Amino acid sequence: MTTDRILEVEGLSIAARSGGRTIPLVHDVSFRLDAGEAVGLVGESGSGKSMTALALLGLLPRGVAVTAGSVRLGGVDLVGADRRTLADIRGRRIAMVFQDPMASLNPAIPVGEQVAEVLRRHLGLARKPAARRAIELLGAVGIREPHRRTGEYPHTFSGGMRQRAMIAMALACEPAVLIADEPTTALDVTVQARILELLVRMQDELGMAMLLVTHDLGVVAGTCHRLAVMYAGRLIEEGEVGEVFDAPYHPYTAALLAAAPENAMHGRKPAAIPGVVPAPGAFPLGCPFSPRCSHARPDPCDSTPVEVRTTGSRRVRCARSRELTLAGVER
Ligand SMILES: Nc1ncnc2c1ncn2[C@@H]1O[C@H](COP(=O)(O)OP(=O)(O)OP(=O)(O)O)[C@@H](O)[C@H]1O
Ligand SMILES: [Mg+2]
Repeated sequence: MTTDRILEVEGLSIAARSGGRTIPLVHDVSFRLDAGEAVGLVGESGSGKSMTALALLGLLPRGVAVTAGSVRLGGVDLVGADRRTLADIRGRRIAMVFQDPMASLNPAIPVGEQVAEVLRRHLGLARKPAARRAIELLGAVGIREPHRRTGEYPHTFSGGMRQRAMIAMALACEPAVLIADEPTTALDVTVQARILELLVRMQDELGMAMLLVTHDLGVVAGTCHRLAVMYAGRLIEEGEVGEVFDAPYHPYTAALLAAAPENAMHGRKPAAIPGVVPAPGAFPLGCPFSPRCSHARPDPCDSTPVEVRTTGSRRVRCARSRELTLAGVER
């Protein structure tokens, strides 16, 4: 694997504006994606994973904006890039697969034509070669009889087949980066596994970097090289999947791993993490996980903002990480 840094996110902060108030949603998030690697982005609901993912493509919803930081893709900072630059890069250099394929597919246009449109717009292919290539792509993502199905509308496709069609669209221009936000959550378990296999195979074949947003640590274990954990809008831990799973540095990561359903299969009782994620606008000065953390102490956890500590290839945002990692964070 090469170590080309394809995408570098530095100090990314995102906020929503509502009634004259600015509500921070994501704070000071930094990570990178290298060519050919998959990074899992995990964390409980509301932790800011989707906002982070959308910001990478300049697709934040109305009223939500990047307030600080940069997202560099091959030397270009996408934060502050004009609409034309973003529209050109999106789909060609960086593409996204969403949880709901109907969010990307137009119900009124045949599936093959939608894939062909991406090829015409970004690669300048003429109508016929684009249509031919669209059929090849539909075949490559596992749609049977692509010659026949290319002319069909999205509603005639099953959920799994729609997701495959969306992946074909996302991969049409062989982007350097693929962002997949919960791409299999809405699908049956057996279909989930096949779609994940497809993503991993395509990622490998195209040498893409992939950011895979998921709730499922089992999925991360099976597909990703590195793992980034978010909590209350902050990136709290990052590292190689095997290393983090073996010895999490942040008590929140340890709690997530202890709560993972696969623990049940190994005879351990999955533990729910007591308490709730603080709401945006109510993030405390210190560590946002402190009220739920069995290792927290008022000083230093609540008294000062917690900075990221780097040890080799691992990063952690925990005020007590040094003493806890020496002792081993209890799960
Ligand atoms: N359009 C919006 N305007 C303002 N705030 C929003 C908007 N969309 C989401 N939020 C808030 O931003 C925060 C982060 O949301 P985000 O969707 O990124 O979480 P997530 O980690 O993707 O969660 P999930 O696992 O449920 O998908 C949440 O508190 C959410 O309520
Ligand atoms: Mg989300």
